Amino acid sequence: MKIGVFDSGRGGVAVASKLRALLPDAEIVSIDDNEHVPYGGRSAKEIFTLTNTALQPLLDGTFDTIVIACNTATTNAIEQLRSTYPSQHFVGLEPMVKPAAEVTKTGNIAVLATPATLASSQYAQLKATYANDVTVIEPDCSSWAALIEKDQIGSIPLEETIALLKNQAVDVIVLACTHYHWFEDAIKKLSGESITVLEPTDAIRNRILDIIR
Ligand code: DGL
Repeated sequence: MKIGVFDSGRGGVAVASKLRALLPDAEIVSIDDNEHVPYGGRSAKEIFTLTNTALQPLLDGTFDTIVIACNTATTNAIEQLRSTYPSQHFVGLEPMVKPAAEVTKTGNIAVLATPATLASSQYAQLKATYANDVTVIEPDCSSWAALIEKDQIGSIPLEETIALLKNQAVDVIVLACTHYHWFEDAIKKLSGESITVLEPTDAIRNRILDIIR
């Protein structure tokens, strides 16, 4: 099985390494768009154009599936990618609003994502479908992906952000940007046991196994 993994930047590496551990027999090829990362402040049109260009090495027809390991590219470009390349299978990563809404007891969930993900119609649709009865808090993470790219994770106000979410009685945090997987452990530690932190790698693995079957 041959799987392509795409992200604008370092998020793809995090997802690919988890997938390699979960699917040891698969050949996994990971690419990014180093030149144009971050995508999170760009328009949907620009995100499609950049994603489409960067994906070309994976579109030679030899990949069983291509994982768009980027919430920003999934929510802004996957539909257009699917219609442009109907014979290529794509797996996208979208914010885990549905499982978060199912798990929350306080009725307050937080989605950590880029501005372009939060502004996308796909995300609006997810919230309208699954989170009508839930308060969705979207803290400002607009600078985070760029800081991660520059090796400046220490400048991200993680403690303040989690403290703010605790004050708002959030009990589920959705990591809706693959760059944030790099500090998943730190977020879990700061969040403590009363907050569930959701990230989608297991769900992607299951999706890939479904496709193979
Ligand atoms: N890693 C990407 C995501 O999952 C986006 C980071 C960016 O390019 O802004 O949304």
